[in-house]
Amino acid sequence: MKEKFYITTPIYYPSNKLTLGNAYTNVICDAIARFNRKQGKDVFYLTGTDEHGQKISQSAEAAGKEEKEYLDEIVEDTKELWKILNISYDKFIRTTDSYHEKAVQKIFTDLYNKGYIYKGSYKGLYCTPCESFWTESQLVDGKCPDCGREVKFQEEEAYFFKLSSFGDKILKLYEENPDFLLPKSRVNEMVNNFIKPGLSDLCVSRTSVKWGVPVEFDPKHTIYVWIDALPNYITALGYNGEDDSMFKKYWPADVHVIGKEIVRFHAIIWPAILMALDLPLPKQVFGHGWLLFGGDKLSKSKSTDKGECTDPRILSKLYSADAVRYILYREIPFGSDGNYSTEAFLTRFNADLSNNYGNLVSRTFSMVKKYFDGVIFEGEELVDEDDKALKEFVDKEVKNVFDYMKVYDVTRATTSIFNIFTEANTYIQKVQPWAVAKDETKTNRLKTILKNLLEVIRIGSELFYPFAPESTGKVLTALNLDKDAVYSNLDSFNGLKAGEKLGELGILFPRLDIKAEIEKLSELANS
Ligand code: MSP
Repeated sequence: MKEKFYITTPIYYPSNKLTLGNAYTNVICDAIARFNRKQGKDVFYLTGTDEHGQKISQSAEAAGKEEKEYLDEIVEDTKELWKILNISYDKFIRTTDSYHEKAVQKIFTDLYNKGYIYKGSYKGLYCTPCESFWTESQLVDGKCPDCGREVKFQEEEAYFFKLSSFGDKILKLYEENPDFLLPKSRVNEMVNNFIKPGLSDLCVSRTSVKWGVPVEFDPKHTIYVWIDALPNYITALGYNGEDDSMFKKYWPADVHVIGKEIVRFHAIIWPAILMALDLPLPKQVFGHGWLLFGGDKLSKSKSTDKGECTDPRILSKLYSADAVRYILYREIPFGSDGNYSTEAFLTRFNADLSNNYGNLVSRTFSMVKKYFDGVIFEGEELVDEDDKALKEFVDKEVKNVFDYMKVYDVTRATTSIFNIFTEANTYIQKVQPWAVAKDETKTNRLKTILKNLLEVIRIGSELFYPFAPESTGKVLTALNLDKDAVYSNLDSFNGLKAGEKLGELGILFPRLDIKAEIEKLSELANS
């Protein structure tokens, strides 16, 4: 039986203004999901939208629409963006899907029946945009510590979840499973900022919020959005539904990939809910860093103010989805924050995608066409020192890519892949195939050189495929390979079939005039 791999993104707040920053979580999850599929695993990759709460009602009202009508439109926009970026999710869950709503109601009732939820009254400081209650001491300069906006005093009858009784259990979870929450710095944050000061019970229902899932046994209350949202990871698999075979097959999740601002919900509240329900916990939570713009979390308004375009739709249309995806792997050191700028994006496009990968492929393909009519030949054994060194280098980096992807480090993995392309370009400069071609007695040597290069392109493109499926897909197809086949022959220079002809391949990443593109993007940002 195939090994299963269940990966999730957070469910997104529906928006037609998702930025490159939002795209980050789904782009890295897509690369991880594709990489695991290429390893032959049975992957289930979940994303979706988080559609309840006061904020949605307010936005719908501002747009002059009923909530559901408003949501249906913008959820389509969200899906459209994932399509543009080639996000290969297996399921898209909406928290307004009726199977989800019913399953959440049942979870709430179960928690109540087990004594983990009780009725009380809530007085507190509430941040409407974040849908979070805060204590005075948690505020930063009197404002919401997550988004920096105003909070207001609110009091209402409410149900509470006994989060306070889970502190020790969560600490034990972190101690016994040091890789449960990564990067490790996030564990200290959770322990020092939330668990050690003492967890408070969590208010989990509202009477003032109408746009939500009603509590089954007390319908004037709606369920707090996070208690509605977090279980999406199991309701999507049929938990509490008519058919829970997917739940039995895929749960627990191998990894929940999330941004650092929502680690608290995933590494404290979610495990506590699962413990209360007597369900297995996810194997890992990875809290990635943010894409920053001018030192702050990237947002559309900030970037357009500074005259830079960070709209992933526009950037994909102009420079390809692969280029947009690639900048995200490289500019955010995995686990930390990273800065975005148009100039960095365009510079990387030229240096890595165009000059390095694109150029390696195009010069190798043209030489095979020019000297051998595009036919792939059997190369001789790797007798030359340069050939051996190239093979050794590639072997080492292939191993690195697999090691890095075990811990989902997409930044180091893509760096290793590009080291392979750089090394192949250096090899070309060293062995000078155009000079070898001038000597008719050296035809076999020329064949070996070009075969080596095609094999490196094959191996590198196979490895790069999960990260940049469009361009590498074209290269693999031109090499007569099935781009979706599982990894094979990555440790040998004998993966291509001799006698086959190379397919046609246009320019993968046309070199850009950076100054002209910066001007173009600045006009688009301001339009
Ligand atoms: N709806 C909640 C999640 C509920 S999960 C049960 C939510 N949604 S979100 O739309 O605000 O965020 C979706 C993802 O986008 C999160 O992982 C978030 O961290 C990510 N990003 C949004 N802006 C970002 C950056 N500037 N940089 C990197 N990722 C950030 O939170």
